[in-house]
Amino acid sequence: MAVMAATKTQRVPPSDGLRGEISVPGDKSISHRAVILGSIASGRSEITGFLEGEDNLRTVEAFRAMGVRIEAPARGRLVINGVGLTGLKPPGGTIYAGNSGTTARLLCGLLSGQTFIATIDGDASLRARPMKRVTGPLREMGAVISGKDEGAYLPLTIKGSKLHGINHTSIIASAQVKSAILLAGLYADGETTVTEQSLSPSRNHTEIMLRGLGAPIDIKSKGLRVTIKKTEALRPFGAIEIPGDISSAAFFMVGALVTPGSGLCIKGVGINPTRTGIIDILTRMGADIELVNRKDDLAEPMADITVKSSGLRGVKISGEELLRAIDEFPVICVAAACARGTTVIGGASELRVKESDRISAMARALAAAGVKAEERPDGIVIHGGGGVRGGTIESLGDHRVAMAMAIAGLASTGGIEIKDAACVDVSFPGFFSLLEGVRAG
Ligand code: S3P
Repeated sequence: MAVMAATKTQRVPPSDGLRGEISVPGDKSISHRAVILGSIASGRSEITGFLEGEDNLRTVEAFRAMGVRIEAPARGRLVINGVGLTGLKPPGGTIYAGNSGTTARLLCGLLSGQTFIATIDGDASLRARPMKRVTGPLREMGAVISGKDEGAYLPLTIKGSKLHGINHTSIIASAQVKSAILLAGLYADGETTVTEQSLSPSRNHTEIMLRGLGAPIDIKSKGLRVTIKKTEALRPFGAIEIPGDISSAAFFMVGALVTPGSGLCIKGVGINPTRTGIIDILTRMGADIELVNRKDDLAEPMADITVKSSGLRGVKISGEELLRAIDEFPVICVAAACARGTTVIGGASELRVKESDRISAMARALAAAGVKAEERPDGIVIHGGGGVRGGTIESLGDHRVAMAMAIAGLASTGGIEIKDAACVDVSFPGFFSLLEGVRAG
């Protein structure tokens, strides 16, 4: 379970298609939550399909530092000996969240209700990402948080305090904000409600898990309003199997769509409806995608995804639709570059505060690969159909930019060289070897 942070340049040559059957690593969001909730549950949880990406290992390290015994007996398996809601210990030093927004933001919520002081820090990218969206509502709950620019940025120091419930309406639909507030809500007197104003809720893995562990949680208005009450204890998971990450599968889906003669099956992928925007968007673009072997009765439903090469067309994509595919923006840009016609993505200014400014990163990377793309304040316009020439691109240390441009490399005429490609380990260790394994040529 070592955390690697080497940088390397990776070249992805053009490909004659992706063929075969693969599995992708476990879902990143669910893996984080399984560690967090397993650690504060009362008893033993055994996780399979855990994603051993750098981000998730930061969460594991944080809870180990707070006295939770977490064993890793085999690849993708964790045994967590949960210490109960009040059993965490002060960490010996600063909690280092690395590149992981989910670790930093969810821990802000959880630490607010403890009885000790802790500091969270991160890498240069995470230090530049906005934290007021979590520290603001947490302070309203009574949290005592100090940090850079009055708690707008990491590093943040959180002094565990007595909390009270709030009624929070999110201006930005964000699962990290919602989850941070709900985690604090476990410790807050009274009721804590989070309401989202979007048409569909942000990813709802925290709510699903809290309900499964017996927390007094009420989910209303099609998931847009969630209320939690102060909680005495959470039962452990016992055993939990984490499905494959649809955000990781998305790279292979687009890879198969944009290369000729492809036929790929991605097994056991999570298809929680808050995450399947990518399938809807690609289908609208003309993709031949099917969900087979569906297991819809699971708390987190899953299916095998089959994809065949398809002629794609440009589409208009709004922020509402993108909410269910927020992390897929980079690879959607690549699908758009390979599609006939123009794709316009709007209402997506949140993409500017992800692991990189993904609007600018993708506009620059596509331009460097010979694709016509125009950056807009809240999105991008991509003129597809002109072919992807190839070239050298900068990942800017953003795992999803690196992987998206690797997929562009498959569809290019000259191949793409990706600088700083080791960042893929943040969410998808083994990405390049898996890609190599399904290349038909
Ligand atoms: C995540 C929520 C999303 C997503 C991120 C993971 C989560 O972020 O982009 O990769 O696990 O809750 P926001 O909540 O900032 O939209």
